[in-house]
Amino acid sequence: MASGMEWFFTALGAVVVIYYGVKLLRFTRMLYPKRWFPLPKSFFLSMGEWAVVTGASEGIGRQYAFVMAEQGMNVVIMSRTKVTLDKVAKEIRESTGRMVKVVVADFTKDNIFTDIEEELKFLDIGVLVNNVGMVPSVLPQRFLEDEDLDQTIVRVINCNVRTMVKMCRIILPGMENRRKGVIVNIASGIASIPFPMYSLYAASKIFVERFSQGLQAEYKDKGIIIQAVSPFGVSTRMVGYQPTNRTMLSPQDFVKSSLQYIRAGDKTYGTICHMVLGWLLLAIPSKILHTEFMLQGLKKYVERKQAGKKSSSVIVEA
Ligand SMILES: NC(=O)c1ccc[n+]([C@@H]2O[C@H](COP(=O)([O-])OP(=O)(O)OC[C@H]3O[C@@H](n4cnc5c(N)ncnc54)[C@H](OP(=O)(O)O)[C@@H]3O)[C@@H](O)[C@H]2O)c1
Repeated sequence: MASGMEWFFTALGAVVVIYYGVKLLRFTRMLYPKRWFPLPKSFFLSMGEWAVVTGASEGIGRQYAFVMAEQGMNVVIMSRTKVTLDKVAKEIRESTGRMVKVVVADFTKDNIFTDIEEELKFLDIGVLVNNVGMVPSVLPQRFLEDEDLDQTIVRVINCNVRTMVKMCRIILPGMENRRKGVIVNIASGIASIPFPMYSLYAASKIFVERFSQGLQAEYKDKGIIIQAVSPFGVSTRMVGYQPTNRTMLSPQDFVKSSLQYIRAGDKTYGTICHMVLGWLLLAIPSKILHTEFMLQGLKKYVERKQAGKKSSSVIVEA
């Protein structure tokens, strides 16, 4: 007769097999998004007539705006620079024939949301992409090393945190009334762990994740999809337009991939390669990652890359 010890180890083994079996199954699902999370052809358009994208004059946001217009939606594009927004609007109109509304706004500033709400009034908004985000500094630095710390705190929290919450505050009620809608909130892969030398940025992005996940639980029964998307490297101004490779994706490839996972849960990395990077990051013990040696190594690595570039943009893979 099996002893208590044998039963214990058999049960433990079974639990481990089931645990990793489920993980493997989930991973396999991510390999075949079209099969596991199929989207009808007019999925986004069926959510509403308009898509709203923040930080849409460049990079990832610009690409989301283009793709939404290609899906047949009219788009509202928002950022600080009118001339760039007008150029993007013209390109979208010419290539897709959709309507584009330009809203100029600096999301680091106070008292902008009454005007934004006014601009969006009466639009049937089916998709909101909360994309805008900023890093506090070009180079990795300790919190107190910022030269204008009080301003930086306000700017980063306003841009990365408050804007997402306020845009949801403005747009979610309409989606709730119509019982449909999609909200994509762009977080960051580095928020998977406490990330020293970019602590404020990484913490602001974990807010994005947690808020999205909580909100999804609150509103999923109302037909609304709310998802945090957490990329690692995407070749944009924010990372100094680093050359693309297997992990540093073009905005086109990243956005195309991320939209395939829109029904894959309340948080995704947007692509398989970034999901694997996330796992690897989580697997490294923080006792190693957070050593002074590693922090200095990160600093030197980014400084070296920065020195090799003329661009004044941020070099770290945000
Ligand atoms: N690129 C990456 O590797 C990466 C990785 C992880 C997460 N992310 C996240 O992805 C999102 C998009 O990043 P990105 O790489 O596409 O950045 P990007 O190329 O620097 O573009 C940022 C966009 O936001 C606008 N913007 C910046 N500050 C603004 C402000 N204060 N008010 C209004 N608009 C503002 C910019 O236009 P104006 O300058 O004209 O205002 C631009 O359209 C961000 O949330 C970022 O944190 C990026």
